Amino acid sequence: MRTETEHTIYLKDYAPTPYRIVTVELDFKILEEKTRVRAQLTIEPRPETEPGTPLVLDGDGLTLDSIAIDGLPLVLSAYLADENGLTLVEPPHRRFVLETEVFLDPAANKKLMGLYRSGGTWCTQCEPEGFRRITYYLDRPDILAPFKVRITAPLAVAPVLLSNGNLIDKGDAGDGLHFALWEDPFPKPSYLFALVAGNLGSITDSFTTMSGRKVDLAIYCTHGKESECLYAMDSLKRSMAWDERRFGREYDLDVFNIVAVSDFNFGAMENKGLNIFNDKLVFASPETASDANYGNIERVIAHEYFHNWTGDRITCRDWFQLCLKEGLTVYRDQEFSSDERSRPVQRIHDVQNLRTLQFPEDGGPLAHPPRPDRYREINNFYTTTVYEKGSEIVRMLSTLLGEAGFRKGMDLYFERHDGDATTIEAFIKVFEDANGVDLAQFAQWYLQAGTPEVTVSDEYDSATQTYRLNLSQKTKPTPNQPDKPPFVIPVRFGLVGPNGSPMGWSGVSGGTVQEDVIVLDEESVTLTFTGVANKPVPSLFRGFSAPVRVVSNMDLETLLFLARHDSDPFNRWDALQTAATRLLSEGAQGRAWTGDAVDALRDALVETVQDPSLDDAFKAQAISLPGEGVIARQIGENVDPDAVARARRQMIRELVAPVGAALERRYEELTISDPYSPDAAQAGRRSLRNGLLSLLVAGTETGGQLAARQYETASNMTDRYAAMAISAHNWTGEAPALLGDFRTRFAGDPLVFDKWLTASAQAPDDGVVERIRATLAAPDFPRTNPNRLRSLLASFVMSNPVQFARADGAGYAMVTEAVAEIDKVNPQVASRILTGFRTLPSLESARQAAGRSALEALRAQHKLSRNSSDIIDRILGN
Ligand code: ARG
Ligand code: ZN
Repeated sequence: MRTETEHTIYLKDYAPTPYRIVTVELDFKILEEKTRVRAQLTIEPRPETEPGTPLVLDGDGLTLDSIAIDGLPLVLSAYLADENGLTLVEPPHRRFVLETEVFLDPAANKKLMGLYRSGGTWCTQCEPEGFRRITYYLDRPDILAPFKVRITAPLAVAPVLLSNGNLIDKGDAGDGLHFALWEDPFPKPSYLFALVAGNLGSITDSFTTMSGRKVDLAIYCTHGKESECLYAMDSLKRSMAWDERRFGREYDLDVFNIVAVSDFNFGAMENKGLNIFNDKLVFASPETASDANYGNIERVIAHEYFHNWTGDRITCRDWFQLCLKEGLTVYRDQEFSSDERSRPVQRIHDVQNLRTLQFPEDGGPLAHPPRPDRYREINNFYTTTVYEKGSEIVRMLSTLLGEAGFRKGMDLYFERHDGDATTIEAFIKVFEDANGVDLAQFAQWYLQAGTPEVTVSDEYDSATQTYRLNLSQKTKPTPNQPDKPPFVIPVRFGLVGPNGSPMGWSGVSGGTVQEDVIVLDEESVTLTFTGVANKPVPSLFRGFSAPVRVVSNMDLETLLFLARHDSDPFNRWDALQTAATRLLSEGAQGRAWTGDAVDALRDALVETVQDPSLDDAFKAQAISLPGEGVIARQIGENVDPDAVARARRQMIRELVAPVGAALERRYEELTISDPYSPDAAQAGRRSLRNGLLSLLVAGTETGGQLAARQYETASNMTDRYAAMAISAHNWTGEAPALLGDFRTRFAGDPLVFDKWLTASAQAPDDGVVERIRATLAAPDFPRTNPNRLRSLLASFVMSNPVQFARADGAGYAMVTEAVAEIDKVNPQVASRILTGFRTLPSLESARQAAGRSALEALRAQHKLSRNSSDIIDRILGN
């Protein structure tokens, strides 16, 4: 029996703790060599707790220096401290104050969980289980308490001292030290604790809330980077205004602080009143950040801010409920971006992301429900399923209930659960109660893994003017879930008439239709529409109304008809994607497409580019062919990534050949002479221009030179990076020189270095594996920084299928060797890279075998972290 199974934690075992923590006072003394943490916890047994019940506090890597209860030191037999925590054998059966003291070495903390140093700055990351690396505690989200935090540190190295809540005192502490006292009146779980101490610059601003309260805003950063924080500040103020407008949610403290740090395990963290960010999601200047970076900054600043209500004021009862705050908050940030920019463009972007990242997860060995029922390592569940599929579930709720019904549910959620640590069931219940509906079957979306497949067929009877539409659903087995009852699938739809305009009907029977939404809640439904004057074309899943895969035998001509005429912009885009994906996946399996098919697809693409009613950003998305991963998913099994890449390249050549000159003219026309602005209109124009460049480079002999010229003359990072990345991706003759220039031109800017690492790692040339090895081996490569490691290795495993999955195993071997080293330093980064192996089961047998043996060797030869072994075991199916 494997020992790891003993560590499996099950949702069904959830129980409240026998003791609760009433208040928390922390006293940090931060010195260069070490940090002392004194904690005073007011604790009491719950009414039902038997006298003599031990109190078990979490601790991770702590060494206890002193311990007392109500001021009296404890005798040795009264407690037990080991590497997993601190047990009080028989605590008092009344309210008492436990005082502990520990010493930490933040500079040695390279896992970047708990208190660590990034550059010279002391900072924290506590979600999900980092607080136990700072002090002994009931480190779980259902323990909520108000915190008072005193920080003492040398004034010279750490003039800035921050924690959650409001600053209530500060001053001199003698010996070159100073102190700050912070108080957070809102009871919060330990994972939302934060502390920052350092020598930082800042920008400040303020926001007046809807009830007229003035909130002081600040963003802290390395000195000299202040001007690069302005876009983040602007995004923050827009987020605060949007949450008031759209959800009636007002900010609740006197201050809101954001700190940008260089060493951070993921994007950012929503600590109450003190968000801590990976600096790549704060810093932006036209020369160093791309339009995509600006968009991400806006989105993540909003996401973390929105957590103040969906995460902080209302938090999760346990980590199985992670989706309660993450899925909902992603939904809120997607809605924010849609309102601030273009809704259809945002939707397409989010769906592309879902199909590229979430669908492979849901269709492979790492599949899990958005609300899992077991885990070995919670850090491995901060996934695209929990986040992005979680958001799709909330979106479906709003589709089924309508905007007003959804808002009623949200209002009730905030009213009923403010201050709670709660569950998915409680979330569903507010929508039921506010709308008088039963959502029991809908809730299956949270409990079942897998992407449902919806098969569509239809027939029209002209004699009776009757149209029949059959929809049936099926979801493949996923780990631990062999059979699945049907989902409730909202199908937003319309019927399109022969001239391209919407068609009506006089009656419909056979299933539930609410306005323009069919509710598919059984295995199969046949709807009969009467009074349908002509044979219609069904436009289904408008706006991507459900996270499903659609199987239909709609022919190419009909798909391209929808691409031209559908009134729903998302479905226009999707019809083109479906058409292209089908041709490409057939081509990659040796079933060549016909010249007529390519001509038809080309005509539709060219027409889209020329349509004056569409905006540039939409056109850019329309002409971007499905990526290799999406094509591979369509093929499903026995995938040969070389064949996929070859088919894609061949298709672009055939599409572009007769229209190359016209596309190039369009490319030239789209040149921008105005000064750079990250706004949606300019960014859209750049993305269309770069989309055309991408086709020209892949599809023409001279494209490589065009890209090189753009690279040299670019006046902003978006255009320069696009030119380099497109050249690298197509491995043009110019690519090596452009990569070389980029590297030296921006030497010294770590975030731009990341761009070089990514472009270089995604190039499909046979030298890439050796190039990555050499980059990693260079003595000055920052091998403990998550951004650098991810830019190099996660980019490779996720988006270079040709070289990562090389049949000779060289790609796999390079990655597993690197992971063995990274895992010793930072298990979270290591396990994230390993998830790239999740597509193994879909590959052809030689590549699959090579990948499996690389993982088996890694597991056999190294004592891996729980993070990494959990991922490997699940991918290998044990
Ligand atoms: N809660 C943070 C967010 O807003 C992310 C924390 C990620 N934690 C982790 N262990 N991966 O999304
Ligand atoms: Zn989040």
